[in-house]
Amino acid sequence: MNETLKLQHSHHSIRSYKPDPVSDEMLDAIIEAAHRAPTSMNAQEISLVVVRDAERKARIAELAGGQAWIAQAPVFITLVIDFNKTDIGVRKAGQTQVIHESMEGLVVAGVDAGIALGNLMMAARSLDLGVVPIGGIRRNPQTMIDLLGLPPLTFPLVGLAIGHIEKDAPIKPRMDIRSFRHDERYDASGYAAAIDAYDSTIMEYWKQLGRSDGISWSQNLGNSLKQVYFPQVKPVGAMQGLLNDK
Ligand SMILES: Cc1cc2nc3c(=O)[nH]c(=O)nc-3n(C[C@H](O)[C@H](O)[C@H](O)COP(=O)(O)O)c2cc1C
Repeated sequence: MNETLKLQHSHHSIRSYKPDPVSDEMLDAIIEAAHRAPTSMNAQEISLVVVRDAERKARIAELAGGQAWIAQAPVFITLVIDFNKTDIGVRKAGQTQVIHESMEGLVVAGVDAGIALGNLMMAARSLDLGVVPIGGIRRNPQTMIDLLGLPPLTFPLVGLAIGHIEKDAPIKPRMDIRSFRHDERYDASGYAAAIDAYDSTIMEYWKQLGRSDGISWSQNLGNSLKQVYFPQVKPVGAMQGLLNDK
């Protein structure tokens, strides 16, 4: 297997970091990897805000619901939907931008941010750094917007903590790949059995880690997905001028 595949096949999130800084050279290379990522229509509607200031990271850790690893990691990057940038280009062309108000706009930005996030993660891990994506910044999006000085038509979508690994973590098992890969046509007939098997696998995984608080995958999803777990996303997104149901 080549080095790229080895990295991709061994992905695992890290939540324990050394205080050592990430060098400017490393950080520049990681960011360039995301800057090179494709975007739909070449819109380049994703921007990154790099935070290294300890106080600001501590504040983000707190508003993400008390995620200590955000404060611990020397670098925290927020991936921002940036329809403010595209709006400037659209105005220059003498047009009025509306895409930011649409479901299509949000979907496209989500896809493009995901590609950029993947590139950031791979680049960082190729330099032996650890990473963990952070959706928890959407718990308090308005505070995040204020903290990062984000203007209208922008939104903090997801973050990434990056740093030198203090304590490595084991690879988390996934559900059977047959529940992921569908050849030619979608087929959900194996899902229930795959979920049963995966619930047992995850319980075994927690046991091996000595985590007596571990719960099954379906239990965990039941707890999370029975509500809109970050209810501020919609009202704050609307206040930013996004998603007006076009
Ligand atoms: C978009 C996204 C948001 C995430 N948000 C958080 C988060 O806020 N806090 C956290 O500790 N992990 C977060 N994670 C990490 C997931 O919990 C993790 O990827 C998943 O449990 C699988 O574990 P693994 O990454 O070690 O394979 C997030 C992952 C993704 C892709």
